[in-house]
Amino acid sequence: MPPMANGKQKLELTWIGKENRPKLEPRILIEDPAKSYHAGFRHGDQQSAVSSQAATTDDGPSAAGPPSGKDFFDNRLIFGDNLLALKALEQEFTGKIKCIYIDPPYNTGSAFTHYDDGIEHSLWLSLMRDRLELLRRLLSPDGSIFIQIDDRECHYLKVAMDGIFGRDNFLGTAIWQKRISPDPDSKFISATHDYIFLYARDQGRCMMNRLVRTAEQDARYANPDDDPRGPWTSSDLTRREYREHDFYAIKLPSGREVWPAKGRSWSVPPETFEEMRGENRVYFGPNGDAMPRRKRFLSEVRDGVVPTSWWSSEDAGKNEDGKREIKSLFPDENDPFATPKPERLIQRILTIASNPGDWVLDSFAGSGTTGAVAHKMGRRWIMVELGEHCHTHIIPRMKKVIDGADPGGITESVGWEGGGGFRYYRVGPSLLEKDQFGNLVISKEFNSAMLAEAMCKLEGFIYAPSTTDYWQQGHSTEADFIYVTTQTLTREQLQKLSDDVGPNRTLLICCGAFRGIKAGDFPNLTVKKIPKAVLAKCEWGHDDYSLEIQNLPVVEGKSGASRGGAEDAERPRTKAHRRKQAAANSASLFDMAETGVSRGGAENDGKQTPTSAPPREDFFDNRLKGI
Ligand SMILES: C[S@@+](CC[C@H](N)C(=O)[O-])C[C@H]1O[C@@H](n2cnc3c(N)ncnc32)[C@H](O)[C@@H]1O
Repeated sequence: MPPMANGKQKLELTWIGKENRPKLEPRILIEDPAKSYHAGFRHGDQQSAVSSQAATTDDGPSAAGPPSGKDFFDNRLIFGDNLLALKALEQEFTGKIKCIYIDPPYNTGSAFTHYDDGIEHSLWLSLMRDRLELLRRLLSPDGSIFIQIDDRECHYLKVAMDGIFGRDNFLGTAIWQKRISPDPDSKFISATHDYIFLYARDQGRCMMNRLVRTAEQDARYANPDDDPRGPWTSSDLTRREYREHDFYAIKLPSGREVWPAKGRSWSVPPETFEEMRGENRVYFGPNGDAMPRRKRFLSEVRDGVVPTSWWSSEDAGKNEDGKREIKSLFPDENDPFATPKPERLIQRILTIASNPGDWVLDSFAGSGTTGAVAHKMGRRWIMVELGEHCHTHIIPRMKKVIDGADPGGITESVGWEGGGGFRYYRVGPSLLEKDQFGNLVISKEFNSAMLAEAMCKLEGFIYAPSTTDYWQQGHSTEADFIYVTTQTLTREQLQKLSDDVGPNRTLLICCGAFRGIKAGDFPNLTVKKIPKAVLAKCEWGHDDYSLEIQNLPVVEGKSGASRGGAEDAERPRTKAHRRKQAAANSASLFDMAETGVSRGGAENDGKQTPTSAPPREDFFDNRLKGI
């Protein structure tokens, strides 16, 4: 157990490679307008007719329908690895997402069939941890996250999540009935449910909506005694606790005296009971001789019901429904997705945890169910998907939703008729690439606008180029700006910039080089050389943080190396050896920042390699503040 600052030990899950963390590059997102899509009209008031399943709560705003006249066009579909995508969203969306739903691959399974000692679980946990930490930062203070998982990894994930979100923020687990009949291929027990863990960003500030009462729930109310207050149901009037004051005899209308059972007491004191009896709020059975029960009137219950932890397929759909929905969207295809979630399941989550206009995020988008449901329910959405089905399925699906041409799923129940749109982005390239000598230089893919945006992200500025002042490409405060250029700036040019900035503003200049100046020359300017000044900020050129096969530790017999050769000596032979070696290899997925950007690259062999942090002197040389 890891020690805490006060010397005590903290209960925590550990796993191989847990200490290795990626030092992520905050990439820019690049829109491809040809793949973005928008309805050709604004709905205006018409869309306010969209209703959701939510009921007004006592303590929250009504969740029915989006604000009048608002179509959402700024939804985002991001193609790429979600770790880099979430990092790219961090600057703009930290603290802004109301509801996150993720349905990650439950484990990589076949990719790891050659390990039998838990390495795969460790890698999976590390990958999930890195993503969950970013997701947590994106949540709004009153936001919540729902994570769907089966029982292969759920227990480990739960403990890891307690560590990330805090045990106090665990709100509960929903059990979703994903199928009804058993799987005939199951050898021992056929899993018919998934778990959905629910965590708040901050339980004290999290507010949840209730679910609309169903006709079936209303049917439980009746009026056998023709009470003028209308139908009612009854509930137990005892509590499972002995309290002396509440342990008293009640005389029934039949004349018989009754007491609470041993170890229990009435749930109200004697005075309250008599008041309730006087108001005909107690039911003593058809003959006035049964244990008293409290009458609860339908007219007096709060709107909506608190969701329970059991989500039946009847209420929330099942896997087959999800498949049917996809089939009706892509009739020519045969089961393109193994486990697309039914729209009603996501509707239930968004109903509870979001209101119209809120941002909803799914970083494992799959077939795009979350975006489709969020769109139909008047929420704003962000989806991230790495697979090619982002193009072949999510985009066509969302186009149909926007065109009002998807009659399936929740369309009818929410009265969806189309509208809104989304922007398509891909995760931008790494800012730095290696030149022919193995040195990191600005990537050729970057034009000046992209470079300015990337530098803004790296330096913590908001990219917002001014239309009037060329040197105002972004700002960190109202009076602090950034200017990015690959040019070499002369003393005259810097003097001109300093004059333009004036005494009440400051400017960070990131340039290729500068000449003829010394510290203290221009108090309102800070000048940095790029790329040198950013080399140590993160790991560069690392594009794939997913569990793709090529990223996995090499295992015995899989590398293609001949037996008995030099490579054979490197092969893990024993289980312990294999574990150690796999952990070392797996670390390379995450630890480039510690070891330098050119680590392990063949093109650097025998060459002077740039390291993540320039030598100290050089580093200071790099940045002149208040010159
Ligand atoms: C279980 S599916 C999600 C299904 C989805 N809920 C639905 O209803 O269709 C998981 C998805 O996560 C995607 N995925 C896995 N790793 C990813 C990563 N690193 N970045 C982005 N997407 C990823 C997979 O391609 C897959 O489509």
